[in-house]
Amino acid sequence: MIRSLITFKNPKSKASESFRTLRTNIQFSSVGKNLKMILGTSSAPSDGKSTIISNLAITYAQAGYKTLLIDCDLRKPTMHKYFVISNNTGISNYIINDDDIKNYIQATSVPNLEVVASGPIPPNPSELLCSDKVKLLFQSLKSTYDIILLDAPPVIAVTDAQILATLADGVILVAPHSGVEKRALAKAKELLDNVGANVLGVVLNKVPEHSEIRYYGKGYYYGQYNSYYTK
Ligand SMILES: Nc1ncnc2c1ncn2[C@@H]1O[C@H](COP(=O)(O)OP(=O)(O)OP(=O)(O)O)[C@@H](O)[C@H]1O
Ligand SMILES: [Mg+2]
Repeated sequence: MIRSLITFKNPKSKASESFRTLRTNIQFSSVGKNLKMILGTSSAPSDGKSTIISNLAITYAQAGYKTLLIDCDLRKPTMHKYFVISNNTGISNYIINDDDIKNYIQATSVPNLEVVASGPIPPNPSELLCSDKVKLLFQSLKSTYDIILLDAPPVIAVTDAQILATLADGVILVAPHSGVEKRALAKAKELLDNVGANVLGVVLNKVPEHSEIRYYGKGYYYGQYNSYYTK
């Protein structure tokens, strides 16, 4: 539910501030470059990809950016649940049908934020995402929106995120503070590097309240949402 997204529920919270910091860091990481499309992925399931990318989308929208969030997790779609919109149709239909993307763009209760849901789960997500239609769609959307965020499956399990990474201008890797295997994170980075992805940094998620990380480097401690953003 949209109410469970902290940046919507409580924009003044420290957690929401951490998302604004993340947004600023992304902007600064791309001075001189036109970062219009950002993909969120991680090494493993349940790391917090969808949580981070949806809060980041809200944060961009709140700053006045014309924002589009596309649920490119065609295997385990969740954006429709967060934003309480329909998943009867979505990007999977668009790719298969000869249709206008406008028919799949849904408004949300967040001003400036629109969402394309995933749609019915197809048998062949990677093939669909590989199609020229997706490439052309993303190119045209980039001229309509200020910023586009993509949610995706984990990068190690399936190739979808790698495919999307080649189309995105930047990738953020989400990693839970505890439980992430360094080897898995390195593997995720390697897989993204292999396709020439522009990995902007790592968002360290689920950092415990009293973690030391809040006191050093660029660590940001904010409630349960904790972003550590670095190159
Ligand atoms: N910082 C956080 N604090 C507390 N709970 C969190 C945090 N980040 C994510 N969660 C919770 O962890 C669960 C998994 O999060 P989420 O669905 O965002 O992960 P995911 O990486 O997108 O998973 P999947 O691989 O299934 O797509 C959800 O119940 C979410 O509410
Ligand atoms: Mg997810």
